[in-house]
Amino acid sequence: MTVIETTRTDSSRLVAAEQLRRLADSLNEELERTNDRGRRSGIGQFTTPSEVARTIGSLVEPKGRTLRVVDAGAGTGALMLGLIASLVERNIAVPVKIDLVETDDVALRLLRTATQEAKTTAAAYGLSVETRIVEGDFCDAPRWAGNRRFDVVVMNPPYMKLGSGDPSRRAILHRHGIDCPNLYAAFLGVATTLLEAGGQLVAITPRSFTNGLYFANFRKELMNRATFRRVILFDRRNRLFKASSVLQETIIFSLQMTRPLRDDLVRVETRADHLSEPHRVHDVTHDKIVFPRDSQKYINLPASSAETLATSQVASLPADLTSLCLGVSTGPVVDFRSREALTSAGASGSVPLIYPTNIKAPRVEWPVPTTKPQGFIVGDKTERMLFPNGPYVLIKRFTAKEERRRVVAGVYLPIKGYDYIAFENHVNVLHRNRSPIKESEAVQLVEFLNSELVDTYFRMFSGSTQVNASDLRRMRFPQLESTDSIHEVHPANRLSFADTADLLQ
Ligand SMILES: C[S@@+](CC[C@H](N)C(=O)[O-])C[C@H]1O[C@@H](n2cnc3c(N)ncnc32)[C@H](O)[C@@H]1O
Repeated sequence: MTVIETTRTDSSRLVAAEQLRRLADSLNEELERTNDRGRRSGIGQFTTPSEVARTIGSLVEPKGRTLRVVDAGAGTGALMLGLIASLVERNIAVPVKIDLVETDDVALRLLRTATQEAKTTAAAYGLSVETRIVEGDFCDAPRWAGNRRFDVVVMNPPYMKLGSGDPSRRAILHRHGIDCPNLYAAFLGVATTLLEAGGQLVAITPRSFTNGLYFANFRKELMNRATFRRVILFDRRNRLFKASSVLQETIIFSLQMTRPLRDDLVRVETRADHLSEPHRVHDVTHDKIVFPRDSQKYINLPASSAETLATSQVASLPADLTSLCLGVSTGPVVDFRSREALTSAGASGSVPLIYPTNIKAPRVEWPVPTTKPQGFIVGDKTERMLFPNGPYVLIKRFTAKEERRRVVAGVYLPIKGYDYIAFENHVNVLHRNRSPIKESEAVQLVEFLNSELVDTYFRMFSGSTQVNASDLRRMRFPQLESTDSIHEVHPANRLSFADTADLLQ
């Protein structure tokens, strides 16, 4: 083993590492000057600031006699420079062979400068670096990698949606057995096919793959192949790629190509932003990150033991919507598609139309002061969108980022004088065969859904502010007391979930 790591960090190493990082930033500035924003977003080119590349480089753990690396979608080489800088800084003299794969001509030109500088600086510190620039599609790995396998893949992959009929998506699925709705996930999947057993994948990506139906197949495949070792979360989204206005919540993680063992620990760090040191570090067993029995392999990212506890508590509840004989639907009225049926509250021939703004947890109020048209005209075309008037549970599908709660639910009680009711598309509706549920059930469900426990549970797996019907379908629920009147529900039961804040202290 040629890894020589000393605790003493000599100041010239720090200076050299800093120079490489500065070079990365200046090459990226040049790239951004040459490729305008439109072109960059068309090819998913959002470069990594050097501080983030530094973090990514520091997560790489050389294990063997050499370090065979791929920088996937290398851009101008920011991650490669971050890695070499980190090895120089850590005084790790393992010979490095690195393949840099990129499609954009401008980036490829700048990449040549980056590799030259990296090699020269590394050599001055006894570190041998061999580079190979590959001009081509990373996903076409058999073409550029042949049978070669690697120890580490680093990436900040391009973000681009792939539709179900997209030829690239089909090609990736065909070649690698990975089905994914976004190019960034394809990159992750392809990387897993290039790594040796025990190899390491270190990436910065949007958090969207960690939950939801779209990425379910992708997650199942990923979790079949790899295990999380480190995850870095950021309190403030949008800061990482400030210059490129990327609005996604992003995470940095290190995965290892191995199946998780029972006691494997994952370190989840939380940082205020990419410039800050972690202010929270939580070590958690892998089975709390991905529940072994979860068929959709949601990836929970609890940042503290209280959050881990909340997730486990919800997971161990006895019921789900199916066992409670309940269904969840998004409100069928898409207002801009039914313009002619929209009217004001109480207009003749109309029924109430309920928007998220009508949800005033734990109730639903109608009408409320708003510019929205709160009436919906009943006609042949609109009848199928209506629900029989009666109690339902309504949950906002989106909450504003500044709202304290992610999950906001209200009991809808029948508004007098109407046989039907209309729900707008931004609300989720809990119903029984598209018919009302009991008021007592609605009240118990809303108390549960508005609890601290559920809110924490949602935040663990979702970085977005959406509450999807699919999330509610897979969530566990408490058993409900079946009575005709809420007054018959035992007060202890009614409060058991509403008052869970203590548990999360
Ligand atoms: C998000 S940028 C990251 C660039 C660089 N790694 C960094 O961290 O600054 C993704 C890069 O992937 C490149 N790219 C897009 N599609 C690609 C593909 N199919 N194969 C290889 N590179 C690709 C883009 O040109 C872009 O430079």
